[in-house]
Amino acid sequence: MDRICINGGQRLNGTIPISGAKNATLPLMIASLLTDQTLILDNVPRLADVALLQRILGNHGVDIMVGGKRPGETQYDGQTLHISAANIIDTTAPYELVSRMRASFWVIAPLLARMGEAKVSMPGGCAIGTRPVDLLIMALDCLGAEIEIDRGYVIARARNGLKGGRISFPKVTVGGTHTALMAAALARGSTVIENAAREPEVTDVADCLNKMGARISGAGTSRILVEGVARLNGARHRVLPDRIETGTYAMAVAMTGGDVLLENARPELLQSVFDLLARAGVEVTSTNAGVRVARNGAGIAPVEVTTSPFPGFPTDLQAQLMALMTRAMGTSRITETIFENRFMHVQELVRLGAHIQLDGECATIEGVERLKGAPVMATDLRASVSLVIAALAAEGETVVNRVYHLDRGFERLEDKLAACGAAIERVSG
Ligand code: EPZ
Repeated sequence: MDRICINGGQRLNGTIPISGAKNATLPLMIASLLTDQTLILDNVPRLADVALLQRILGNHGVDIMVGGKRPGETQYDGQTLHISAANIIDTTAPYELVSRMRASFWVIAPLLARMGEAKVSMPGGCAIGTRPVDLLIMALDCLGAEIEIDRGYVIARARNGLKGGRISFPKVTVGGTHTALMAAALARGSTVIENAAREPEVTDVADCLNKMGARISGAGTSRILVEGVARLNGARHRVLPDRIETGTYAMAVAMTGGDVLLENARPELLQSVFDLLARAGVEVTSTNAGVRVARNGAGIAPVEVTTSPFPGFPTDLQAQLMALMTRAMGTSRITETIFENRFMHVQELVRLGAHIQLDGECATIEGVERLKGAPVMATDLRASVSLVIAALAAEGETVVNRVYHLDRGFERLEDKLAACGAAIERVSG
């Protein structure tokens, strides 16, 4: 198993190219199941989760061709996928695959909408919380699906097609909103989705579906209207830049000090994060090429923040912010409201010398003057990357084990950081 070795203490200076968003790519790839024509996706990141979803879709009979590199393209340019679901050969998604990637449960919506049936394994628990799928099932039920739960599988049927309806989510759910959008796009009549997730990845999926011929309005607000259509076509769509990768590198620069251009980053996708970093004393400037993040001289001021759905502070940056606050000049408080068990990084940060107290969903972080390198590991990708951020400022060597978590969500992490001066390398085996 690969490990990442980091010798802390180097400032970061230079340019980091931001890749396409993992959490938009996955539902966009799944949306290809809605049409028998080819969907072309540009700016797709090279990630283990993308490769795994290719295999999962292959199981349903989807053909995916990966475009070759064109002259003039650099290793950092995203890949182009040509995805064709012309012949769906299987409407079952088995436990072995769904349990490895929760988002693959979302295939239930396009399979049901286009084929009239789907049998998809329930994903089971995961490292950050229980993560049920009841609201996704509720959304399909609102559109007239017959649902049965049998031996760990959700079996959904709509022999005469889905019917538009009103879906009112009792809590904001990204996966629920993706599922509702994909199902409603091919339902008869109109659907209203209330309390919809406003995450930019939902808007990106809605934009792509509209290019495919769907009639969706209001994406990006909490009330989305979908006028169902009889069929969808192929289209070409460029995946939006990854706001979580952007925020992660912004915090890495804030941690080490230095001056880095986050190329292609879109500041409006993470205003809450940049506002918070500004309060912590970090300089953040929008430029034509992306976002410049700098910290020179000044120490890090402590902050108080609560995670919440977009446009609030994202749960997917909570661990990274906590790593940054371990070095703040005072006491910070971070409250996690989205997932009940997303503090697995705390004990590992403590191994590096951090002072953190947990009380239910609230973490109190007392900034320390220095962290010291140690072997660490984590159980999910954002937790793992928070250890990398801490290690960049720790004295001596930190070895981050279980690197496969990082490979699920961060493209060429060690290359991007090394190019800006970090002493970081991957050790195989
Ligand atoms: C998406 O997960 C992201 N995954 C997560 O990214 C992200 O943390 C999360 O949204 C919140 O922003 C992808 O986009 C692939 P939710 P999702 O449904 O859709 C509860 C990462 O690190 N809930 O918005 O699964 C749920 O338990 C990750 O990239 C129900 O109760 O999240 C949670 O408490 C991990 N019933 C809350 O809603 C349901 O049926 C929000 O979850 C569905 C969700």
